[in-house]
Amino acid sequence: MMKHINNITGMKEEIAQLKAAKKTIGFVPTMGSLHEGHLQLVEKATQQVDVVIMSIFVNPLQFGENEDFDTYPRDLANDLQLAKQHGVHQVFTPTADDMYPNTMSVTMNVQRGADILCGSSRPGHFDGVATVVMKLFNIIEPDVAYFGMKDAQQVAIIKQMVADYHLNVTIVPIPTVREEDGLAMSSRNVNLSHMERQEAPHIYKTLAEAKSKALQGHFKTVAQLEEWVNHTLKKRLVLGKVDYIYFLKFPSLTRPSTIAGSAILATAVHYEKTRLIDNVTWEQ
Ligand code: PAJ
Repeated sequence: MMKHINNITGMKEEIAQLKAAKKTIGFVPTMGSLHEGHLQLVEKATQQVDVVIMSIFVNPLQFGENEDFDTYPRDLANDLQLAKQHGVHQVFTPTADDMYPNTMSVTMNVQRGADILCGSSRPGHFDGVATVVMKLFNIIEPDVAYFGMKDAQQVAIIKQMVADYHLNVTIVPIPTVREEDGLAMSSRNVNLSHMERQEAPHIYKTLAEAKSKALQGHFKTVAQLEEWVNHTLKKRLVLGKVDYIYFLKFPSLTRPSTIAGSAILATAVHYEKTRLIDNVTWEQ
């Protein structure tokens, strides 16, 4: 039987019982509108821990003023059914008033890794993510927490937060789950028009091609690689506008001087109603 808990006090009571019974807790934080990507995190959790807890909370703090907080897709009834079918034991759906009864007097401020990639086009976004994840970690007290590599920068920042604050949680990254045509699964994909949806798989196709070219030694410099991706994406995308293309070291998210090493190639593309992100990583 899956439990649905919709307030912090109730959730803390459940956690106290689980801790007393010495159960290991796996945590999957989400904003709902669940798809196969979220469910892969659940799948991994069910293999590793006694109790899988998923949170569903569209966190207002991580949306900018002109972003899609209001139109972010929400479908709790369907989410609860999917969570149950996939073996989640407890779903936590706090309200914004419960999570943020007052304006926070002490907030998280991400110092490193937030001025690039999504951080530069979404100022404050990662402060909002770090704040809510810190709160959720303190409520749920998980042994393991699962995050998708679709949001690779989020993984890097949360790992850094865990190290900086000595949190007793292991972060497990899960590879990006894709549609058959390569498009990274995202709750935001439903906000693409038919034509945009037809075009969007070119984002991954281009990143994957760049990765294979890089691994074959096709690019001599970082600039050449970025130039190829920039040029190719702009040629292939008619409706989408490229927000950024970054080639960085991963997980440090610093600028590499050469192509060699552990790397991430990441991009964000604006469509009319939504913005998509995707990335590929590799070792060389
Ligand atoms: P959300 O976008 O709902 O994603 C929840 C988790 O699912 C994240 O760890 C994300 O990386 C992962 N995920 C999403 N799409 C995926 C895909 N196609 N393949 C693999 N994993 C995927 O990320 C957030 O919510 C929020 O920022 C949150 C961490 C919940 C804090 O509010």
